[in-house]
Amino acid sequence: MSNQQVTLTQFIIEQQRGLPDASGTFTLLLNNIVTACKQISHRVNCGALIGVLGSAESENVQGEVQKKLDIITNDIMVKALDWSGSLGGMASEEINDPIKIPKQYPKGKYLVLFDPLDGSSNIDINMTVGTIFSILRCREGIEPETEDFLRRGTEQVCAGFVLYGPSTMLVLTTGNGVNGFTLDQDVGEFILTHCNMKIPEDSSEFAINMSNQRFWEPPVKRYIDECVAGEDGPRGKNFNMRWVASLVAEVYRILNRGGVFLYPHDLRDPSKPGKLRLMYEANPMAFIIEQAGGLCSTGRERILDVKPNSIHQRVPLILGSKNEVERIIAYHQQD
Ligand code: AHG
Ligand code: MN
Ligand code: MN
Ligand code: MN
Repeated sequence: MSNQQVTLTQFIIEQQRGLPDASGTFTLLLNNIVTACKQISHRVNCGALIGVLGSAESENVQGEVQKKLDIITNDIMVKALDWSGSLGGMASEEINDPIKIPKQYPKGKYLVLFDPLDGSSNIDINMTVGTIFSILRCREGIEPETEDFLRRGTEQVCAGFVLYGPSTMLVLTTGNGVNGFTLDQDVGEFILTHCNMKIPEDSSEFAINMSNQRFWEPPVKRYIDECVAGEDGPRGKNFNMRWVASLVAEVYRILNRGGVFLYPHDLRDPSKPGKLRLMYEANPMAFIIEQAGGLCSTGRERILDVKPNSIHQRVPLILGSKNEVERIIAYHQQD
C-alpha cells in the first residue's frame, strides 16, 4: 500500500474531526459494518468451495425463497454489530421485526437498516451482488420500537453499499458528497479510489426489467418507448439498455457513467407498489444518488421525503441522471 493512499479509517476520522459530537461511536459503528462486509466478501468469493451457494429452502417476510447466503450474510451483519454499544437496534430485509440488541450489551444512539445481500438471485450464476446499509440516529438507552425506525430518508446520517464484483468496493456518503473505496485484498483495507463521485446530468442508457412492460403505468411506457424509438423518435438519439438484476451494480454503473434505473409501480398487485424496499434499498440509494448530483423519485414524490409506514414497505424507484429523471417525473405530472 503506497504511502499516499488514504484508508477508509483515515478518511472517516478526518471527516468526523471537528464535528460537535465526534465521540468515535460513529467511526466504531462504520468500522464494524466494514468488517462484516469484508467477511461477506470472503464468503461470496469462496462460493461453491465452501458450500454457501443455492437455496436455503426457506421463505423471508418478502415472500422470497431465501438463498443460503441471504441468511449467512444477515447473521454476519448482526454478529458484527450487536455487541458494539453503538446501536439501539437493527432492521434487515431477511428478518420480519426489528432486531433487538442482546441484554448483555449496552445500547447506543444509532439504528442500522440493511439489505445483507442485494441481488441474491445472481449469486448462483456468479454475478455481482452487494450489501446496502442505512444509518439513522435513535433515542439513547431505550428499546427502539418499530416507529423509531420509520424515519424519512432525509433523516439518514449515513448510507453506503459494498459491491462484491470483480473488485470489492465500498460507496459511502455522510452528507458531504460520495466517495468510493476499493478493498486491497492483500492488506485488508479499503483505499480511497473514487473521490467525490458525480453523476453526468444527461445519459443515453436506461435500466429496466422489460418483461414487466405490460404492467407499467403510461408515463413509464411513454419514456421507455421513446428511448427504444432511438434517433428516429422524439428523443432524436439512440439509447443503450442494461439490466443486471442487482440494484448495487446498477447504481454503481450510474455513479460512474450516468444512466437511469427504473423499478416502477406496476399494476400487477396494488398491494405492492413496486418491488424495491424503501428503508434499506431505496432510501440509502437515494441519499447516495442525490449527494452525487442525481435524482431519486417514485415518479410522483422524492424518495427521501416518503413517510414510511412499515419496515418492509415497497416503493416505485426511479433514479439516476438528473435530466432523465426530471423528464420521467414530468411525464407522471402530465399523466
Ligand atoms: P434482493 O436480492 O435484495 O432481494 O434485491 C433484488 C432486487 C434488486 O437488487 C434488483 O434491482 C431487483 O431485485 C431485480 O428484480 P428482478 O429480479 O425482478 O429483475
Ligand atoms: Mn431478497
Ligand atoms: Mn436488495
Ligand atoms: Mn437482499
